[in-house]
Amino acid sequence: MYNIVTCNGEGTESLQEETTEEMTEGEELGIMEKKNLDWANIGFGYHETDKRFVANYKNGAWDDGALTEDANIVMNECAGVLQYAQTCFEGMKAYTTEDGRIVTFRPDLNAQRMEDSCKRLEMPVFPQDRFIQAVTDVVAANEAYVPPYGSGATLYIRPYMFGISPVIGVRPAEEYQFRVFTTPVGPYFKGGVKPLTIKVSDFDRAAPHGTGHIKAGLNYAMSLHAIMTAHAEGFDENMYLDAGSRTYVEETGGANFLFVTKDNKVITPKSDSILPSITRRSLMTVAKDYLGLEVEERPIALEEVKDFAECGLCGTAAVISPVGKIVDHGKEIAFPSGMSEMGPVTKKLYDTLTGIQMGRIDAPEGWIHVIK
Ligand code: PLP
Ligand code: COI
Repeated sequence: MYNIVTCNGEGTESLQEETTEEMTEGEELGIMEKKNLDWANIGFGYHETDKRFVANYKNGAWDDGALTEDANIVMNECAGVLQYAQTCFEGMKAYTTEDGRIVTFRPDLNAQRMEDSCKRLEMPVFPQDRFIQAVTDVVAANEAYVPPYGSGATLYIRPYMFGISPVIGVRPAEEYQFRVFTTPVGPYFKGGVKPLTIKVSDFDRAAPHGTGHIKAGLNYAMSLHAIMTAHAEGFDENMYLDAGSRTYVEETGGANFLFVTKDNKVITPKSDSILPSITRRSLMTVAKDYLGLEVEERPIALEEVKDFAECGLCGTAAVISPVGKIVDHGKEIAFPSGMSEMGPVTKKLYDTLTGIQMGRIDAPEGWIHVIK
Protein backbone atom coordinates (compact mmCIF):
# COMPACT_ATOMS: atom_id res chain seq x y z
CA MET A 1 0.00 0.00 0.00
CA TYR A 2 1.07 3.55 -0.63
CA ASN A 3 1.03 6.58 1.49
CA ILE A 4 -2.13 8.30 0.40
CA VAL A 5 -1.85 12.04 -0.22
CA THR A 6 -5.13 12.34 -2.06
CA CYS A 7 -6.61 15.53 -3.28
CA ASN A 8 -7.84 17.76 -0.51
CA GLY A 9 -11.56 17.20 -0.13
CA GLU A 10 -14.24 19.73 0.50
CA GLY A 11 -12.74 20.15 3.93
CA THR A 12 -13.82 23.66 4.49
CA GLU A 13 -16.37 23.16 7.23
CA SER A 14 -13.76 24.09 9.78
CA LEU A 15 -13.19 27.41 8.08
CA GLN A 16 -15.11 29.36 10.64
CA GLU A 17 -14.71 33.03 10.40
CA GLU A 18 -14.70 34.94 13.63
CA THR A 19 -17.21 37.66 12.97
CA THR A 20 -17.88 40.79 14.90
CA GLU A 21 -20.69 43.26 14.47
CA GLU A 22 -18.59 46.22 15.47
CA MET A 23 -16.84 48.27 12.84
CA THR A 24 -13.12 47.76 12.99
CA GLU A 25 -10.69 50.65 12.93
CA GLY A 26 -9.74 49.67 9.35
CA GLU A 27 -13.37 49.73 8.19
CA GLU A 28 -13.86 53.14 9.75
CA LEU A 29 -10.88 54.37 7.75
CA GLY A 30 -12.21 52.70 4.59
CA ILE A 31 -9.43 50.08 4.57
CA MET A 32 -10.50 46.61 3.51
CA GLU A 33 -10.05 44.04 6.29
CA LYS A 34 -9.13 40.48 5.37
CA LYS A 35 -11.51 37.75 6.49
CA ASN A 36 -10.27 36.03 9.57
CA LEU A 37 -9.79 32.56 8.04
CA ASP A 38 -7.26 29.89 8.93
CA TRP A 39 -5.34 30.50 5.70
CA ALA A 40 -2.58 27.97 6.43
CA ASN A 41 -5.02 25.06 6.78
CA ILE A 42 -7.62 26.00 4.25
CA GLY A 43 -7.37 22.93 1.95
CA PHE A 44 -8.70 22.82 -1.60
CA GLY A 45 -12.46 23.13 -1.15
CA TYR A 46 -15.39 25.41 -1.78
CA HIS A 47 -15.84 28.28 0.61
CA GLU A 48 -18.57 30.69 -0.40
CA THR A 49 -17.37 34.26 -0.91
CA ASP A 50 -19.44 37.43 -1.05
CA LYS A 51 -19.93 38.21 -4.75
CA ARG A 52 -19.99 36.43 -8.09
CA PHE A 53 -20.56 37.60 -11.67
CA VAL A 54 -23.51 36.43 -13.78
CA ALA A 55 -24.28 37.19 -17.43
CA ASN A 56 -27.08 35.69 -19.52
CA TYR A 57 -27.16 34.88 -23.22
CA LYS A 58 -30.61 35.11 -24.79
CA ASN A 59 -31.90 35.84 -28.30
CA GLY A 60 -28.38 35.65 -29.67
CA ALA A 61 -26.74 38.23 -27.37
CA TRP A 62 -25.07 38.53 -23.95
CA ASP A 63 -26.60 40.97 -21.49
CA ASP A 64 -24.43 43.37 -19.46
CA GLY A 65 -24.10 40.96 -16.56
CA ALA A 66 -23.74 42.00 -12.93
CA LEU A 67 -22.26 41.02 -9.60
CA THR A 68 -24.66 39.24 -7.27
CA GLU A 69 -24.62 37.93 -3.72
CA ASP A 70 -26.80 34.95 -4.66
CA ALA A 71 -24.67 31.81 -4.91
CA ASN A 72 -27.58 29.64 -6.10
CA ILE A 73 -28.86 28.98 -9.60
CA VAL A 74 -32.43 28.09 -10.50
CA MET A 75 -32.94 26.40 -13.85
CA ASN A 76 -35.39 24.29 -15.78
CA GLU A 77 -35.32 20.53 -15.22
CA CYS A 78 -34.53 20.08 -18.91
CA ALA A 79 -31.63 22.59 -19.06
CA GLY A 80 -28.95 21.64 -21.61
CA VAL A 81 -26.30 21.37 -18.91
CA LEU A 82 -28.37 18.90 -16.90
CA GLN A 83 -29.35 16.68 -19.81
CA TYR A 84 -26.35 16.71 -22.13
CA ALA A 85 -23.55 18.18 -19.99
CA GLN A 86 -23.16 21.30 -22.10
CA THR A 87 -20.73 23.13 -19.87
CA CYS A 88 -17.12 24.25 -19.75
CA PHE A 89 -15.00 26.13 -17.25
CA GLU A 90 -11.66 27.71 -16.43
CA GLY A 91 -9.42 27.68 -13.38
CA MET A 92 -7.26 30.63 -12.34
CA LYS A 93 -5.85 32.14 -9.17
CA ALA A 94 -5.47 35.60 -7.63
CA TYR A 95 -2.33 36.19 -5.59
CA THR A 96 -1.26 38.80 -3.07
CA THR A 97 2.22 39.89 -4.07
CA GLU A 98 5.13 40.66 -1.78
CA ASP A 99 4.41 44.40 -2.14
CA GLY A 100 0.69 43.97 -1.37
CA ARG A 101 -0.86 44.12 -4.84
CA ILE A 102 -3.54 41.65 -5.94
CA VAL A 103 -2.77 40.06 -9.29
CA THR A 104 -3.82 37.25 -11.60
CA PHE A 105 -1.58 35.25 -13.90
CA ARG A 106 -2.01 35.34 -17.69
CA PRO A 107 -5.83 35.67 -17.70
CA ASP A 108 -5.71 36.33 -21.46
CA LEU A 109 -4.76 32.69 -21.98
CA ASN A 110 -7.71 31.49 -19.88
CA ALA A 111 -10.01 33.77 -21.89
CA GLN A 112 -8.65 32.30 -25.12
CA ARG A 113 -8.97 28.71 -23.86
CA MET A 114 -12.54 29.33 -22.71
CA GLU A 115 -13.31 30.63 -26.20
CA ASP A 116 -11.82 27.43 -27.67
CA SER A 117 -13.88 25.29 -25.27
CA CYS A 118 -17.10 27.16 -26.10
CA LYS A 119 -16.59 26.80 -29.85
CA ARG A 120 -15.96 23.05 -29.55
CA LEU A 121 -19.12 22.64 -27.44
CA GLU A 122 -21.33 24.82 -29.70
CA MET A 123 -21.68 27.45 -27.00
CA PRO A 124 -21.59 31.22 -27.55
CA VAL A 125 -18.26 32.89 -26.79
CA PHE A 126 -18.20 35.33 -23.90
CA PRO A 127 -15.94 38.07 -25.33
CA GLN A 128 -12.37 37.80 -24.07
CA ASP A 129 -12.13 41.41 -22.85
CA ARG A 130 -15.36 40.95 -20.90
CA PHE A 131 -14.06 37.65 -19.47
CA ILE A 132 -10.99 39.45 -18.08
CA GLN A 133 -13.13 42.32 -16.79
CA ALA A 134 -15.53 39.92 -15.04
CA VAL A 135 -12.62 38.08 -13.39
CA THR A 136 -11.13 41.42 -12.31
CA ASP A 137 -14.45 42.63 -10.87
CA VAL A 138 -15.16 39.43 -8.96
CA VAL A 139 -11.69 39.31 -7.41
CA ALA A 140 -11.90 43.00 -6.46
CA ALA A 141 -15.36 42.43 -4.94
CA ASN A 142 -13.98 39.54 -2.86
CA GLU A 143 -10.73 41.24 -1.92
CA ALA A 144 -11.24 40.32 1.72
CA TYR A 145 -10.91 36.65 0.73
CA VAL A 146 -7.65 36.99 -1.19
CA PRO A 147 -5.23 35.21 1.14
CA PRO A 148 -2.37 37.33 2.48
CA TYR A 149 1.13 37.12 1.01
CA GLY A 150 3.10 34.24 2.47
CA SER A 151 0.04 32.40 3.82
CA GLY A 152 0.41 29.51 1.37
CA ALA A 153 -3.18 30.06 0.17
CA THR A 154 -4.56 31.81 -2.92
CA LEU A 155 -7.96 32.84 -4.23
CA TYR A 156 -9.09 30.29 -6.79
CA ILE A 157 -11.22 31.76 -9.60
CA ARG A 158 -13.73 29.63 -11.46
CA PRO A 159 -15.24 31.11 -14.66
CA TYR A 160 -17.79 28.76 -16.23
CA MET A 161 -20.60 28.61 -18.72
CA PHE A 162 -23.53 26.28 -19.27
CA GLY A 163 -26.60 25.75 -21.41
CA ILE A 164 -29.58 26.82 -19.32
CA SER A 165 -32.58 26.61 -21.67
CA PRO A 166 -34.48 23.32 -22.08
CA VAL A 167 -33.34 20.80 -24.70
CA ILE A 168 -34.62 17.28 -25.10
CA GLY A 169 -33.50 16.43 -28.63
CA VAL A 170 -29.71 16.25 -28.71
CA ARG A 171 -28.74 19.78 -29.76
CA PRO A 172 -27.18 22.90 -28.26
CA ALA A 173 -29.23 25.02 -25.87
CA GLU A 174 -30.44 28.43 -27.04
CA GLU A 175 -29.75 30.25 -23.79
CA TYR A 176 -26.60 30.25 -21.66
CA GLN A 177 -25.26 31.59 -18.41
CA PHE A 178 -21.66 32.70 -17.85
CA ARG A 179 -20.55 33.01 -14.24
CA VAL A 180 -17.40 33.63 -12.24
CA PHE A 181 -17.05 32.74 -8.57
CA THR A 182 -14.06 32.64 -6.25
CA THR A 183 -13.04 30.48 -3.30
CA PRO A 184 -9.91 30.70 -1.15
CA VAL A 185 -7.80 27.55 -1.46
CA GLY A 186 -4.69 25.90 -0.13
CA PRO A 187 -2.66 23.13 -1.82
CA TYR A 188 -4.55 20.77 -4.15
CA PHE A 189 -2.79 17.71 -2.76
CA LYS A 190 -2.99 17.30 0.99
CA GLY A 191 0.68 16.65 1.60
CA GLY A 192 1.59 20.02 0.05
CA VAL A 193 4.91 19.34 -1.66
CA LYS A 194 5.16 15.70 -0.58
CA PRO A 195 5.86 13.57 -3.67
CA LEU A 196 2.86 11.75 -5.09
CA THR A 197 2.35 8.14 -6.14
CA ILE A 198 0.62 7.82 -9.50
CA LYS A 199 -1.17 4.88 -11.06
CA VAL A 200 -1.04 4.13 -14.78
CA SER A 201 -4.77 3.98 -15.38
CA ASP A 202 -6.66 1.30 -17.26
CA PHE A 203 -9.27 3.92 -18.10
CA ASP A 204 -8.89 6.44 -20.89
CA ARG A 205 -9.43 10.14 -20.35
CA ALA A 206 -9.89 11.46 -23.87
CA ALA A 207 -10.38 9.99 -27.33
CA PRO A 208 -8.27 10.96 -30.32
CA HIS A 209 -10.17 13.81 -32.03
CA GLY A 210 -12.36 14.10 -28.91
CA THR A 211 -12.54 16.83 -26.25
CA GLY A 212 -9.36 16.26 -24.20
CA HIS A 213 -7.88 19.57 -25.37
CA ILE A 214 -10.74 21.70 -24.01
CA LYS A 215 -11.94 22.28 -20.47
CA ALA A 216 -15.31 20.58 -20.77
CA GLY A 217 -17.08 19.36 -17.63
CA LEU A 218 -17.65 16.04 -19.33
CA ASN A 219 -13.89 15.29 -19.27
CA TYR A 220 -14.00 15.49 -15.50
CA ALA A 221 -17.26 13.59 -15.03
CA MET A 222 -15.83 10.61 -16.85
CA SER A 223 -12.65 10.71 -14.74
CA LEU A 224 -14.49 10.40 -11.41
CA HIS A 225 -14.72 6.61 -11.42
CA ALA A 226 -11.05 6.35 -12.40
CA ILE A 227 -9.91 8.67 -9.61
CA MET A 228 -12.07 6.97 -6.97
CA THR A 229 -10.66 3.62 -8.08
CA ALA A 230 -7.09 4.95 -7.87
CA HIS A 231 -7.70 6.45 -4.41
CA ALA A 232 -9.26 3.22 -3.16
CA GLU A 233 -6.08 1.42 -4.22
CA GLY A 234 -3.92 3.92 -2.35
CA PHE A 235 -2.76 6.11 -5.26
CA ASP A 236 -2.89 9.88 -5.38
CA GLU A 237 -3.69 10.34 -9.06
CA ASN A 238 -3.92 8.61 -12.42
CA MET A 239 -1.61 8.78 -15.37
CA TYR A 240 -3.74 8.45 -18.50
CA LEU A 241 -2.18 7.08 -21.66
CA ASP A 242 -3.16 7.96 -25.21
CA ALA A 243 -6.42 6.17 -25.91
CA GLY A 244 -5.42 5.23 -29.45
CA SER A 245 -2.30 3.15 -28.78
CA ARG A 246 -1.99 3.18 -24.95
CA THR A 247 1.71 3.83 -25.45
CA TYR A 248 2.25 7.54 -24.78
CA VAL A 249 1.86 9.59 -21.63
CA GLU A 250 -1.08 12.00 -21.72
CA GLU A 251 -1.86 13.72 -18.41
CA THR A 252 -3.64 13.26 -15.08
CA GLY A 253 -7.25 14.16 -14.30
CA GLY A 254 -6.33 17.75 -13.48
CA ALA A 255 -2.74 18.50 -14.49
CA ASN A 256 -0.11 18.05 -17.23
CA PHE A 257 3.13 16.11 -16.72
CA LEU A 258 6.63 17.58 -16.74
CA PHE A 259 9.72 15.37 -16.69
CA VAL A 260 13.37 16.20 -16.17
CA THR A 261 15.92 14.01 -17.91
CA LYS A 262 19.14 12.90 -16.23
CA ASP A 263 20.98 15.60 -18.20
CA ASN A 264 18.57 18.30 -16.94
CA LYS A 265 16.40 18.75 -19.99
CA VAL A 266 12.77 19.64 -19.22
CA ILE A 267 10.36 17.67 -21.37
CA THR A 268 6.59 17.51 -21.56
CA PRO A 269 4.14 15.40 -23.57
CA LYS A 270 2.89 16.71 -26.89
CA SER A 271 -0.60 15.49 -27.68
CA ASP A 272 -3.76 16.85 -29.27
CA SER A 273 -5.88 15.22 -26.58
CA ILE A 274 -4.43 16.87 -23.45
CA LEU A 275 -5.41 20.23 -22.00
CA PRO A 276 -2.95 22.95 -23.08
CA SER A 277 -1.97 23.87 -19.53
CA ILE A 278 -1.11 27.52 -19.02
CA THR A 279 1.13 26.55 -16.11
CA ARG A 280 3.02 24.04 -18.24
CA ARG A 281 3.45 26.49 -21.11
CA SER A 282 4.71 29.10 -18.64
CA LEU A 283 7.09 26.64 -17.00
CA MET A 284 8.66 25.80 -20.34
CA THR A 285 9.41 29.51 -20.79
CA VAL A 286 10.71 29.73 -17.22
CA ALA A 287 12.96 26.69 -17.77
CA LYS A 288 14.39 28.11 -20.98
CA ASP A 289 14.57 31.85 -20.31
CA TYR A 290 15.10 32.02 -16.54
CA LEU A 291 16.96 28.80 -15.79
CA GLY A 292 18.80 28.34 -19.09
CA LEU A 293 17.59 24.76 -19.46
CA GLU A 294 16.91 22.93 -22.66
CA VAL A 295 13.19 22.24 -23.14
CA GLU A 296 11.30 19.92 -25.42
CA GLU A 297 7.63 19.15 -26.12
CA ARG A 298 7.25 15.78 -27.82
CA PRO A 299 5.36 12.51 -27.56
CA ILE A 300 6.70 10.67 -24.49
CA ALA A 301 6.35 6.89 -24.39
CA LEU A 302 5.53 5.33 -21.02
CA GLU A 303 8.44 3.02 -21.73
CA GLU A 304 10.99 5.85 -21.44
CA VAL A 305 9.65 7.32 -18.19
CA LYS A 306 11.86 5.00 -16.11
CA ASP A 307 14.92 6.84 -17.49
CA PHE A 308 13.91 10.27 -16.19
CA ALA A 309 15.33 11.95 -13.10
CA GLU A 310 12.30 13.94 -11.95
CA CYS A 311 8.60 14.16 -12.57
CA GLY A 312 5.99 16.72 -11.63
CA LEU A 313 2.32 17.57 -12.22
CA CYS A 314 1.63 21.12 -13.26
CA GLY A 315 -1.54 23.16 -13.31
CA THR A 316 -3.25 26.09 -11.66
CA ALA A 317 -4.50 23.96 -8.77
CA ALA A 318 -1.49 21.61 -8.68
CA VAL A 319 1.11 24.43 -9.21
CA ILE A 320 3.96 21.91 -9.51
CA SER A 321 3.34 18.84 -7.42
CA PRO A 322 6.30 16.45 -7.39
CA VAL A 323 5.79 12.81 -8.36
CA GLY A 324 7.94 10.29 -6.50
CA LYS A 325 6.66 7.09 -8.02
CA ILE A 326 4.59 5.82 -10.93
CA VAL A 327 3.13 2.32 -10.71
CA ASP A 328 2.33 0.47 -13.91
CA HIS A 329 0.40 -2.68 -13.02
CA GLY A 330 2.70 -3.62 -10.16
CA LYS A 331 5.85 -2.40 -11.88
CA GLU A 332 7.26 0.58 -10.00
CA ILE A 333 9.06 3.49 -11.55
CA ALA A 334 10.73 5.28 -8.64
CA PHE A 335 12.34 8.60 -9.55
CA PRO A 336 15.80 9.30 -8.15
CA SER A 337 14.37 12.47 -6.54
CA GLY A 338 12.70 10.14 -4.02
CA MET A 339 9.58 10.23 -1.87
CA SER A 340 10.50 12.95 0.59
CA GLU A 341 11.15 16.10 -1.42
CA MET A 342 10.93 17.80 -4.81
CA GLY A 343 13.72 17.10 -7.25
CA PRO A 344 16.23 19.97 -7.62
CA VAL A 345 15.10 21.11 -11.08
CA THR A 346 11.41 20.83 -10.16
CA LYS A 347 12.16 22.94 -7.09
CA LYS A 348 13.87 25.65 -9.15
CA LEU A 349 10.93 25.70 -11.55
CA TYR A 350 8.51 25.91 -8.63
CA ASP A 351 10.43 28.70 -6.90
CA THR A 352 10.76 30.73 -10.09
CA LEU A 353 7.14 30.36 -11.18
CA THR A 354 5.71 31.15 -7.75
CA GLY A 355 8.27 33.97 -7.43
CA ILE A 356 6.88 35.50 -10.63
CA GLN A 357 3.28 35.02 -9.49
CA MET A 358 3.94 36.56 -6.07
CA GLY A 359 5.94 39.48 -7.45
CA ARG A 360 9.34 38.45 -6.07
CA ILE A 361 10.78 37.91 -9.55
CA ASP A 362 10.24 40.11 -12.61
CA ALA A 363 7.64 38.61 -14.95
CA PRO A 364 7.82 38.43 -18.71
CA GLU A 365 5.82 41.21 -20.40
CA GLY A 366 2.06 40.68 -20.05
CA TRP A 367 2.10 37.77 -17.59
CA ILE A 368 0.85 39.65 -14.55
CA HIS A 369 -2.57 41.31 -14.57
CA VAL A 370 -2.86 43.76 -11.70
CA ILE A 371 -6.28 43.94 -10.09
CA LYS A 372 -5.28 46.45 -7.41
N1 PLP B 1 -4.91 19.30 -17.38
C1 PLP B 1 -6.14 19.22 -16.88
C2 PLP B 1 -6.97 18.04 -17.22
C3 PLP B 1 -6.62 20.23 -16.04
O1 PLP B 1 -7.84 20.17 -15.53
C4 PLP B 1 -5.80 21.33 -15.74
C5 PLP B 1 -6.27 22.41 -14.90
O2 PLP B 1 -6.65 23.44 -15.33
C6 PLP B 1 -4.51 21.36 -16.29
C7 PLP B 1 -4.10 20.33 -17.10
C8 PLP B 1 -3.60 22.50 -16.02
O3 PLP B 1 -3.95 23.62 -16.77
P1 PLP B 1 -3.61 25.07 -16.27
O4 PLP B 1 -2.14 25.10 -16.02
O5 PLP B 1 -4.00 25.95 -17.38
O6 PLP B 1 -4.38 25.29 -15.03
C1 COI C 1 -7.22 23.84 -12.25
O1 COI C 1 -6.05 23.54 -12.02
O2 COI C 1 -7.61 25.02 -12.25
C2 COI C 1 -8.22 22.84 -12.57
O3 COI C 1 -9.23 23.17 -13.11
C3 COI C 1 -7.96 21.45 -12.19
C4 COI C 1 -9.00 20.88 -11.31
C5 COI C 1 -8.61 19.46 -11.06
C6 COI C 1 -9.17 21.61 -10.03
